[in-house]
Parts: sequence; C-alpha cells; structure tokens
Amino acid sequence: MAGLIPQNFIDDLIARSDIVEVINARVPLKRKGKEYTACCPFHNEKTPSFTVSENKQFFYCFGCHAKGNVIGFLMDYEHLSYIDAIESLAADAHLDVPHENDGFANKNRQDKQPFYDILKQASELFQQQLKNSERAIDYLKQRGLSGDIAKQFKIGYAPDGWDFLISHLGQSTDNLNSLSKTGLIVNKENNKTYDRFRDRIIFPITDQRGRIVGFGGRILDQGEPKYLNSPENAVFHKGYELYGLFEVKQALRKIDRIIIVEGYMDVVALAQHDINYAVASLGTATTTEQIQKTFRTTHEIVFCYDGDNAGKKAAWRALENTLSVIRDGMIAKFLFLPEKEDPDTMVRKEGKGAFETRIKNATTLSEFLFEHLKSESDISSKEGKAQLASKANALIQKMHNSLFKDLLIEELSTLVGLSYQHLESKISSSTKSRKPALKKVKPLRSQQVSNNKTRLAVALLVQNPVLASQHKVPESFKHAVNKGLPLLHTLQQTINSNTEISSAALLERFRDSELENTLNTLSMLQTPETENKEKVIDTYKEIIERLNIEDRYEYLTHKDESGEQLTTEEKNEFFELSLK
Ligand code: UTP
Ligand code: MN
Repeated sequence: MAGLIPQNFIDDLIARSDIVEVINARVPLKRKGKEYTACCPFHNEKTPSFTVSENKQFFYCFGCHAKGNVIGFLMDYEHLSYIDAIESLAADAHLDVPHENDGFANKNRQDKQPFYDILKQASELFQQQLKNSERAIDYLKQRGLSGDIAKQFKIGYAPDGWDFLISHLGQSTDNLNSLSKTGLIVNKENNKTYDRFRDRIIFPITDQRGRIVGFGGRILDQGEPKYLNSPENAVFHKGYELYGLFEVKQALRKIDRIIIVEGYMDVVALAQHDINYAVASLGTATTTEQIQKTFRTTHEIVFCYDGDNAGKKAAWRALENTLSVIRDGMIAKFLFLPEKEDPDTMVRKEGKGAFETRIKNATTLSEFLFEHLKSESDISSKEGKAQLASKANALIQKMHNSLFKDLLIEELSTLVGLSYQHLESKISSSTKSRKPALKKVKPLRSQQVSNNKTRLAVALLVQNPVLASQHKVPESFKHAVNKGLPLLHTLQQTINSNTEISSAALLERFRDSELENTLNTLSMLQTPETENKEKVIDTYKEIIERLNIEDRYEYLTHKDESGEQLTTEEKNEFFELSLK
C-alpha cells in the first residue's frame, strides 16, 4: 500500500506540516517550556500528560505511552487508514497525492468503482424492500430490533424470486458484469443468471470508509444455510473486514474498547442495547489483519465467545494471532459466555449493565494463556513443566519485544521454576534458528539494541538525520552481530535516499515494521549527549568509531577462537585494536 505513494512526497508532506498546528486544531494545546501539553485524547486523565514536541514533530503521552508523528496522530485520533491520513494531511496543505505508476493505481481504482456503485444501489433496493415486507419487519421485531437500529445498520430484505436485482439493475452489460463480479448474481450454465440472495434479511458489510463491499443474508425461517455471504471479490476480502467497525467509528469519538463477537446479529443486538462498540469477525477465526485493524482504532480488545468447546477453540486462535500483533499499551481480554448463549441472547436476557459487568471482568490474555496451558500439562511433574515451558516458548516467540513479553516470560519462569535468563535465552535462540544461518561471529554480548553506546548512536541519528551525511556508518555494520549496527546501517541507507529527510519522516518509513517501536522510543530518548546540540556531531563520530573498533575486534576474536587462521594483516590489526 505505502509503496503506491512516493516516499519523497511523504517526507516532504511531513516536513511541511506542523504537528503542533494539526493537533491543536483537534485537541487544544498549552505551551509549557519547549513543548506543548494537553489532557491525552487517547485515555482518560485529569492532569495533562500528553506532550507535543515542536522540535521533534512528535507526540508522546507519559500516561498511556501513545506516541507518533503527525500521520500516526491522525490515524489514531481520526481512525484513519494510513493512506487516508496522508490524503487528509495533503488536502490541508492543498497538495494532490501523487501515485507511483499512477496509471496502474488509477486504473485499479476506476476498475473497482462500478462494484462499489452496484453494491450501494443493491443495498438501497434491499432497504426499500424491507419497508414493503411485513414478514421481514416482523422477523426483526421479534428479534428485538427497532426501526432506528435497522436503519443505522442499513439492514434490508432481499425478496423471494430469482431476478429481483437483474430486473432492477441489470439494464446494461456493465451493470450485469458488476452484479456478477460482486457475486450478487450467480451465473448458471447456458448464460442464465439468478439472484444470490432470495428471501433473506440483508446485512451490508462496509469497509473502513463506509463503502459497502458485501452482504450477509439470513434466512427468516429455519433452513440451511442459515447465513449466505458475498463471495470474495475485488472489493471484499473476508479476512480483512470487520462487520460493524465503521458504525463503531461513526458512533464514538473516543473508543475505549472494542468487543469482537462472532455474528452479525450479535453486533446489532448489542447496539440495540446501547453497547455500540462491538464488531464481528464474519464467522471465521479472527485474523491477525483484523486484530491489527482493530488495535488501530482502540487500545483494548475483548474477544467474546461462547463458553462451549468451539468457542474456546476460536478464542485460542484469536490469542495466538493477538500475540504476534500486541505491543505495550494494548490490552486483549477474553469473555466466555455461558454455554448455549451468545451476545445477542445474553444482552437481551440481562441487559446492558450486566453485560458490561461481564466485559469488565473478562479474563486477561495472560490468565487465559497460562490457564489453558496448565490444563494441558500436569505441572506437578518435571516432564509436564518442560512440556508447558516449551509450548509457552513457542507462543511467546511470536511476540514483538515489549514489557508485556518480559512479564509473560517472568510469569512462566515462576510457574516452571526456571530462571528468567534461561527462558529468555531459549526463546531468542529458537527465534534465531528459524532465520537463515548467520555467517558471521557468535555474539559475545546481548544482541538487543540494549548496548548503551549503540542505543545512543541510533537515538542521535534518528533525532538528527543530517548526521548521516556528516559521518557515514561503515559498510561492515550491515552484517554485524550486534543488532544495533545493522539498524544503524539501515538508517544510513534510508537517509541516503533523501539526505534532507526530517526526523519524523524518517520514522514514518518504519511504520508497521518490527523496528517501529524501538525507533519511536529512541527518538524520544533524552540524555546529556542528545541534548547538547553543539557537540552532537563529535559525539556521534566518536561512538560510531568506537562501535566499529569493537565490531572488528569481536569479529577477529571469534575468528581466532574458532580455529580459523588469521592472516598476517589481521594479526597486526588484532594487536593494534587490542591497544585501543
Ligand atoms: P451463528 O450460528 O453463531 O449465528 O454464526 P448468529 O450470529 O448467532 O445468528 P442468529 O442469532 O442465529 O441469527 C455466527 C456467524 O457465522 C457466520 C455469520 O457471519 C454469523 O453471523 N455464519 C454462520 C455463516 O457465514 N454461515 C452460516 O451458515 C452460519
Ligand atoms: Mn445468535
């Protein structure tokens, strides 16, 4: 996606916009010394801990740790997708967003437009039909839904018969083509077609921007299949969309949590009871893409499943997918309902208050994780403990580095009686073994960017990209063992592609990458070295040189110890390095 908009345009856009202005227009800021503050828009607080730095063009909240640049702010605050945030910022600056190989991007957009159009027209027809069908209205009433809620979710009715849509919309071959490509009509042999949805209640599925991309249709009586869904097509990808997400964003400015349920009716019934922050994963296991999408909208997800075995299984899949996505500041919980109940029946039975109490008391991710693992192994024995530890390792490995990950390792350590260090080394060494074998030396020290000098060098470079032109990172850092060195190399390369890049734009290049969090954190790091602007270049040079010496020394030491012959030149170099 990001590739469609030229990076230089994004760099330039960020450089032109002023984060203080953009945020101030939405959240009034007060100047406080060099920075601006306000009560954080992303969590509830009485004293301001939300800080915007004009210098760094970055915001940070000391309370909930929300942070980012101007694009990140717009994405989080206005619930925009990445592309939409860029478009909104560009519109403010009166710029048109260029697209690389514009021909293709535009063509792609044009190709899809007729699909959106036909889906919208079909939805309007279905909504009209609902008004004419007493049977359909009665059905919805009997399920406790009001006319207002039906309208809000654009619920409709597809009448019985075989050619409702064709007779209303099928005048042109273009329309027929769109009807067929979006799956609204089904092609039979001998060129005949018929309506996919017949005598069904229709739930339109919208994308982030509120465009209709598909439908779910429920049978009114008993019968199979209970629900019929639009097939995957150019505008509808089941694993990416969440039913009701657009409506949640419409209903709420600040979304404290989102509950992910299984069915259309669950979302609608919850909304009917004024719980307007539920979305449905469209009957499939919740995918990592759906979880990611939800976490862009809120900081807390509560997965809600039936208490039966199928529900537990679905929850476990969701847990596995959450682990690979979750970062500090995000919360995932699990709510198990009594057997035979779903959110629809539950909320109708006990009402909003009681249901929200259940949400509040939902099981935390770590509780669910360890309870589930304990139920599978007998940890009174060493064998059971080992089994549990190895399963837990496999899961924890999927996680981004975070405090939450550290805490899970710690809990595991208490549970199985192995030290934190022992478990951590196991977890990171098996992560490594999945990657291509490292050609070079074994690490002598920790591989994280925890080494103070390396962290400082990265922080200096991220905060002052101009350093990259003043002192280059050695080429050999590319394959160095100390993880921070390849990172420095990557930063150098990135800055080379636009030597005038700003700090905030540089960080933008790493959005959604594994490094995003580390870099964002280091961009906020304040030390005497980062604050003394006159000496920054000298400090940076000195550290890079030092790191280079250490890297070389480590390399030669290892080569020597592993029994490989050092050349005469290398021996001399080794000797000289050891004096430094
Ligand atoms: P459920 O069977 O739990 O249905 O399926 P429900 O949402 O509770 O519906 P009601 O209350 O009986 O009306 C959950 C979800 O799984 C998908 C749908 O998205 C449904 O909302 N599903 C289910 C299908 O796609 N096809 C089916 O035949 C059944
Ligand atoms: Mn149901």
